[in-house]
Amino acid sequence: MCGIVGYVGPQQAAPVLVEGLTRLEYRGYDSAGVAVLNPRSSAHPSRVVRAQGRVRDLEAALPARLAGTTGIGHTRWATHGEPSERNAHPHTSYDGRVHVVHNGIIDNFALLRSRLTEEGVELTSETDTEVIAHLVARELSAGLTLEDAVRAAVGQIVGTYALAVLDAQAPERVVVARNGSPLLIGVGDGEMFVASDPAAIVRHTSQVVLLDDGDFASVTADGFHSFTDGEAKTARAAVTLDLTVEELELGGHDHFMHKEIHEQPESVERMLTGRLDDRFGTAKLAGLNLEPRHLRRFERVKVLGCGSAYYVGQLGASMIEDLARIPADAEPASEFRYRNPIIEPSTLYVVVSQSGETADTLFAVREVQRKGGTVVGLVNAVGSSIAREVDGGIYLHAGPEVAVASTKALTHMSIGFALLALNLGRVHDLSFADGQRIIAGLRAIPGQIAEILAGEESLAAAARELATAPSLFFIGRVRGYPVAREGAQKFKEITYRHAEAYPTSELKHGPLALISPELPSVAIIPDDDLVERNITAAQEIRARGGSVVAITHPGVDLGDAATQRIEVPRNEVELDPILLTIPTQLLGYHAAVALGEDVDRPRNLAKSVTVE
Ligand code: AGP
Repeated sequence: MCGIVGYVGPQQAAPVLVEGLTRLEYRGYDSAGVAVLNPRSSAHPSRVVRAQGRVRDLEAALPARLAGTTGIGHTRWATHGEPSERNAHPHTSYDGRVHVVHNGIIDNFALLRSRLTEEGVELTSETDTEVIAHLVARELSAGLTLEDAVRAAVGQIVGTYALAVLDAQAPERVVVARNGSPLLIGVGDGEMFVASDPAAIVRHTSQVVLLDDGDFASVTADGFHSFTDGEAKTARAAVTLDLTVEELELGGHDHFMHKEIHEQPESVERMLTGRLDDRFGTAKLAGLNLEPRHLRRFERVKVLGCGSAYYVGQLGASMIEDLARIPADAEPASEFRYRNPIIEPSTLYVVVSQSGETADTLFAVREVQRKGGTVVGLVNAVGSSIAREVDGGIYLHAGPEVAVASTKALTHMSIGFALLALNLGRVHDLSFADGQRIIAGLRAIPGQIAEILAGEESLAAAARELATAPSLFFIGRVRGYPVAREGAQKFKEITYRHAEAYPTSELKHGPLALISPELPSVAIIPDDDLVERNITAAQEIRARGGSVVAITHPGVDLGDAATQRIEVPRNEVELDPILLTIPTQLLGYHAAVALGEDVDRPRNLAKSVTVE
């Protein structure tokens, strides 16, 4: 969602902040701003510049010289109040002394606003954040230090926050607080950084301190001290980031989404390294923290994730049923946490998330744990909140994913599920031979993805055709249905065209009425035991004037059931959906490019949804 960056040190803060915000722009992009403190200027001890739009709009609005070596910056994804300059962060207190940037949501902001208004404070924005600046200023005017003032202000708010606060009268420090939104401190040499995401500061340091919920920290150029609400000092040690600047560059691609799609053969190869156990025909997953005898005790698996991660979760559940023969299903984490779910000790809960910060998924973890359940995570972002809170898990090792529309992380999730399903299968009834069969299939995937990507030009041509339709169907059945759901999701996220996923088997129960030459279908038709039925359904569409782009296997005789044919190499039937998904990534991408859309930053969306 929103992004925070902060700096204290010998450099001019503004360029550091703007560079950091540019790297965070994928998290939110409707407005941006910076506040910089300059103790040498008595006329302007602090300056705030904000702009509606992108970070480049902020850059254009910055004065040629914005002196000051302490500062905070923010890129916003609107929750309270329209995207506009006055709603952009940093927000400033009534007396001009305090500047605040904030990620998260203040639930009791309406109450706080009306109290402040009664006290005569004039609120200048529609945001929930602004109240924090006024609350801190009020505490400072009562004589508290900045640290104590932030703590006292936070004591009055209910909600989630990552905060960075400046006091114009204490220009050598930034005070930060975290509850429910990620925040970290970057440790430099004689300079310190603050960020909501390591991408903002990776150019400057690889040493970071991950703050926990309830942490505060006072950050100066020489270091920081962290403390809690109860005033106790906390010892938070630095860890080394597994991230390089190159990973955050386009590297010759036009878009991050394109780069990330093309990274998959290599990234999947890397993910599998050391995880396949040929001797026992299983997967090595030490991070699960579950011995085989414990794994065996689970009688059911429940997968929880949001959006595309939930669709991959559906695929994962079917892999688990196929390979381990224990009942498994997936549910949106955003629904699960609100329906007072029954948590069974004999169920293994599996959460899946690229960012590891999705609020709904994180709250689902807590719901399971509160009720005594065991929850493991398939997470990409190392050290993220979900990764830290689960009982064990599998890191996806997809590397950073910048494009809002997820691709490679989803592929890694499905491979993560295959590893988990293999592991569970081998402690149940999956034979050694079948274990080896799956291992061989997994080993083939990187090369097979590369083969699919080599056919990009014909996929791009099909995508350009699909882009002309105002609406389309993605259809698939059983293992192919989650593929269709994810294909439709990708298409609508970045093309803004209506794309609806449907089980192929259900078409005849209603949606067939919509078929016309204006409504094409993308049909997932693998060479499995349903192939004939899928071909018949495609023929029914063709007979009603609809066109069909079929994603299928070599050797499948489609006859006249398809207007276009896209082939993917065959793997093991349980793993085929992983490969069948890859063409849908390129269909969405090239359709969006053909339509001239901003592929990496689709409107209204954010990379990780850290609010409920
Ligand atoms: C994917 O393209 C989407 N942008 C979105 O559905 C995403 O998968 C979802 O918000 C979950 O995010 P997470 O994996 O970071 O938890």
